[in-house]
Amino acid sequence: MKDSKKTQEQDDLNRRKFVGNTSKTVAGAAALSTLPIERFAHAAISPGDTIKVGLIGCGGRGTGAAVQALSTSESTKLVAMADVFKDKLENRLGIISKQKEKQVDVKDENKFVGPDGYKKVIEQSDLVILTTPPGFRPYHFEEAIKQNKHVFMEKPVAVDGPGVRKVLEVAKIADKKGLKVGVGLQRHHQAGYVETMKRLKDGAIGDFVSMRAYWNGGGVWDPRAGRGEVNSELEYQLRNWYYYNWLCGDHITEQHIHNLDIINWLKDGYPVLARGMGGRQVRTDKKYGEIFDHHAVEYQYEDGTWMFSQCRHIRGCWNSVSEHVQGTKGRCDINRHSIFPTKGNPWRYRKQKGDKNPYQQEHDDLFAAIRHNEPYNEAYYGAMSTLTSIMGRMATYTGQPVTQEQALNSKVQIMPDKITWDTKPPTGPDKDGKYPIPVPGDKMWARKIV
Ligand SMILES: NC(=O)c1ccc[n+]([C@@H]2O[C@H](COP(=O)([O-])OP(=O)(O)OC[C@H]3O[C@@H](n4cnc5c(N)ncnc54)[C@H](O)[C@@H]3O)[C@@H](O)[C@H]2O)c1
Repeated sequence: MKDSKKTQEQDDLNRRKFVGNTSKTVAGAAALSTLPIERFAHAAISPGDTIKVGLIGCGGRGTGAAVQALSTSESTKLVAMADVFKDKLENRLGIISKQKEKQVDVKDENKFVGPDGYKKVIEQSDLVILTTPPGFRPYHFEEAIKQNKHVFMEKPVAVDGPGVRKVLEVAKIADKKGLKVGVGLQRHHQAGYVETMKRLKDGAIGDFVSMRAYWNGGGVWDPRAGRGEVNSELEYQLRNWYYYNWLCGDHITEQHIHNLDIINWLKDGYPVLARGMGGRQVRTDKKYGEIFDHHAVEYQYEDGTWMFSQCRHIRGCWNSVSEHVQGTKGRCDINRHSIFPTKGNPWRYRKQKGDKNPYQQEHDDLFAAIRHNEPYNEAYYGAMSTLTSIMGRMATYTGQPVTQEQALNSKVQIMPDKITWDTKPPTGPDKDGKYPIPVPGDKMWARKIV
């Protein structure tokens, strides 16, 4: 692990403010004003035009996001889809068509199967939904912006430092081109969170002293495909992607990012240091690939305050998916949208009539920005909160303190630049079918992690 010089870019990112509901970044606005010609590099979409949507990664979230995109207020059409597996594509096309029959127009020639299909979907679309496993995200985002297309991409947006850097670079190009980018950290579009954050930042509990973020639960799906059902190690890992870091980033990145991101939003910044511990205690079978089943990380922000984070995938334990903050004048259960000042009455957000499901709201906001050509780019905070989670993973895997600079400037690239059906996955099983598992405290491992 090498310490490298703090870059101007990191300073800028740490200073950059979250803009709660609409996520119109100041940086985006600045870039637009200085680059008037590039602003019009994409085909302008006016209110009333049909927006052609493409879906890349036809799984559970991709299906939800496609339906939400097709449920925004003006004309939209699903025109192209890509997945590495034909069965996934066809199955999800059926589900989306059932819900949005009149808005689905995916001709056979616009169904693309295989690792290269994303490029073709991007060609056909005005906006692409990127919902593959996160390892692919930086490459798909790069291609979409290269082809001048708007993007909705799911979190996390990368699995390693080089991937985060790529997303940050491409985000700047998106701003220059006037392209709009939404990231699936939907709590930013959830009315209760937005109002709670506003009150906290307005001083409802004074200064923030310490924060907690948890995703302790029973875990996600068990491996979906057995060895006998696949043609290669690559197919085995792609079908069971959650358990391989080059695809998933471990659950601290894939899932716990939501809670870490809330505290980053509260702090208007990103941790500069992570220290932690974790391991595989219960989910140890070889079918669970290489990820840990628990991580506990303490993160320090630039002002010296700490966020205490836990995430666990073990059934039968104490569970909590939540965020909390203690202030000098009270405390807040952020996820319950409840504020308890030391003096005065507690406050709790009451659902309003117009409040929407945040998954729908995030699409409504993105599509409105596209139609009205307003600055909109969530990739910066999506990338930096992804980095927070990666720093945590680096800390638990190595057992060493990890700084933001180390994580961001890390040369350890766990996601290959290109995947074809001939690619050998970056990790593989031994003769007993077991994958190498990081060993905290081991110097050889540390070099492969940070
Ligand atoms: N914001 C949220 O609350 C939320 C909820 C669920 C999932 N997600 C995110 O959405 C993403 C997808 O998760 P999911 O639950 O839909 O997973 P999934 O396994 O259901 O779907 C992923 C799909 O991508 C396909 N795929 C894999 N590699 C591909 C490639 N190179 N090109 C094209 N297709 C490829 C897979 O075959 C699969 O069909 C993840 O990043 C996940 O973290 C976000």
